[in-house]
Amino acid sequence: MASAPGKVTLFGEHAVVYGYPAIVASIDKRIYVNAELRDDDKIRINAQDLRTSGVIVSISNGEIQITTDYGKTLSAIGYLNKAIELVSEYLGVRKGVSLEVRSEMPVGAGLGTSAAVSVAAIAAYSTCLGYELSKEEIARLGWEVEKSVQGIASPMDTSIATFGGVLKIWFEGSAVYRVPLKVSDELPLVVAYVERERTTRDMVAWVKNLREKHPEIINGILEHIGKTTLKAEKALAEGDLHEVGTLMNINHGLLEALGVSSRRLNEVVYTARLAGALGSKLTGGGGGGASIALTLPDNLEVLTNVLKLVTPQVFKTNIVYEGVKVSSLAS
Ligand code: PMV
Repeated sequence: MASAPGKVTLFGEHAVVYGYPAIVASIDKRIYVNAELRDDDKIRINAQDLRTSGVIVSISNGEIQITTDYGKTLSAIGYLNKAIELVSEYLGVRKGVSLEVRSEMPVGAGLGTSAAVSVAAIAAYSTCLGYELSKEEIARLGWEVEKSVQGIASPMDTSIATFGGVLKIWFEGSAVYRVPLKVSDELPLVVAYVERERTTRDMVAWVKNLREKHPEIINGILEHIGKTTLKAEKALAEGDLHEVGTLMNINHGLLEALGVSSRRLNEVVYTARLAGALGSKLTGGGGGGASIALTLPDNLEVLTNVLKLVTPQVFKTNIVYEGVKVSSLAS
């Protein structure tokens, strides 16, 4: 069995796709993948526990549209399938496998579940085949999975799911740079999420389009997100939570300028500030999904309770330093 953590992007999502640095932290919610080799060559996936956030109802021109989150579960299965295929290709061995997936997080909310699923599946399956891949290899294969399922993806999510901790990450071509950051103080964070209206893939495509139409404006915004991230690195190292919060607010404003927030996400983000958060922003791809709010420890309860008035999906989270982990070897 292998597990990998989810993550929150503290700074720099979307800009990271264009080579700017991002700061990302793994959280205390994990995805578990149990793999067992089969006698035949089938891939069997039991993903009953991939929690989804419910039914989405939208009304447009008087027409009611109901979408379920099954699509997200199916998309998680796409990552699993690709992970098995790429590991088989990489190792030159192909065997049937039964995979059982358990998630402690909502799927597709912007918490890096697709990366955690991919990374845990790569580790579990390769272990079953008798190989011990290095973290570097797992992260690289994970990135390949994300790129082939999503079209465009930075190595951010798969890196943090593999290595864990707090990382500054950027990439140039196929070279990935990861700097572990020392966060001097505890970071009291609250995650609140709302229904996802659009997928990460849609949002990445949206930014790409906008950048092609208005390069002179969008490149400037992406560059400013990069600058915000670098300032945040310093503030985090100094344990200056007020400054970190201010920079989170700036980062959210820039993401909004890119058009990746939503009315519901903004509601959560601004409510957090009214409830005393030092800073709040969307986290991940946007278009609905997750937000994070930073607060001083003595305000944690109040912040959590106030956020629950706006969305039922709220949890306190801690940063964990453990990345992908193989917990037991199947005999
Ligand atoms: O929504 P998530 O958790 O998959 O995060 C996406 C982060 C982006 O920067 C928007 C895309 C990427 O590949 O880095």
